[in-house]
Amino acid sequence: MIDLSTKYMGLNLKNPIIVGSCGLTGTLEGVMEMEENGAGAVVLKSLFEEQITMEISNSTTNLYTQHTEANDYFRYYEKMYHVEKYIDLIKQCKSKTSIPIIASINCRTADDWTTFAKKIEKSGADGLELNIFLLPSDSDRENQISEQLYIDIIRKVKENIKIPIALKIGYYFTNLATFINRLSQQEVEALVLFNRFFSSDIDIDDEKIIIGNSFSTPIEYLIPLRWIALLSDNTDCDLCATTGIHSGKSVIKQLLAGAQAVQMVSSLYLNKSEHLKKVLSDLENWMATKNYKSISDFRGKLSQSQIKDPSLFERVQFMKYQDATI
Ligand SMILES: Cc1cc2nc3c(=O)[nH]c(=O)nc-3n(C[C@H](O)[C@H](O)[C@H](O)COP(=O)(O)O)c2cc1C
Repeated sequence: MIDLSTKYMGLNLKNPIIVGSCGLTGTLEGVMEMEENGAGAVVLKSLFEEQITMEISNSTTNLYTQHTEANDYFRYYEKMYHVEKYIDLIKQCKSKTSIPIIASINCRTADDWTTFAKKIEKSGADGLELNIFLLPSDSDRENQISEQLYIDIIRKVKENIKIPIALKIGYYFTNLATFINRLSQQEVEALVLFNRFFSSDIDIDDEKIIIGNSFSTPIEYLIPLRWIALLSDNTDCDLCATTGIHSGKSVIKQLLAGAQAVQMVSSLYLNKSEHLKKVLSDLENWMATKNYKSISDFRGKLSQSQIKDPSLFERVQFMKYQDATI
């Protein structure tokens, strides 16, 4: 018997494949469909701090909101309304499914939204993923200021809840390894490497800005793969790989590099949720061929500290074309 179970963020997962935060996990039906197709856990669609703020600014055109107290009331109401819908979704998912349900907040400040985390915990969410991203595009802003904000957000949220926290981040940091290490020491249970961001593109015919491709391509798994391999032995928390994981093969690679779990999104949009079954059976078949009985038999086997030549994951320049096949 092959055992696909794993522990992630202190939660017991029947397998390491998590459906990442996206529109597919924004409804009870969507979450149930993912469970039916074998997901080990789901991260719900994010509650966006930005989205809430936008709702508030729309409502300020209302006459009543010109009064400061009324304005405060509407701000509060807007936040509660949005949050209440989210809380309902968590409760419904918890009552209708049996896989871990991880709530998600997309945030950029350590402001009052952090107290909402309490409601998320009370609603029964098994964990909370914080998707923090500040595009380091302000050339007057010192990197320490942006980085400290990540720490402040974690601390503020930790003051409010006891459920496990995962932090989903990008890779635009001055010294990625040092910063990831520092983050892993902030009592977060997991780091999710790496978020794939919405990108703008340019239409050269109409010469205007358009929405870039929302979905990843299967080659993008190489970015998290390198960093999971480099960091999985040196961080104080679990690592979860995300971006470009489209197949059983790329799941296996991330596990070999040391990931505790993986998240998939684009491939489920492109191939529908049944694709999860194929990915799981590919993982199971590979384990059978290799005679592995459980994930722990091979997880981290090819992380940087386990391979003969640790410099392989640090190599960044091509010397000869054929070197790419080392
Ligand atoms: C349509 C779509 C919606 C997404 N919505 C969210 C979201 O609400 N919160 C979040 O943290 N990530 C969101 N993401 C990012 C995914 O969770 C994931 O990190 C990213 O797509 C990389 O994984 P993939 O290569 O498997 O798609 C979204 C991605 C897509 C394609």
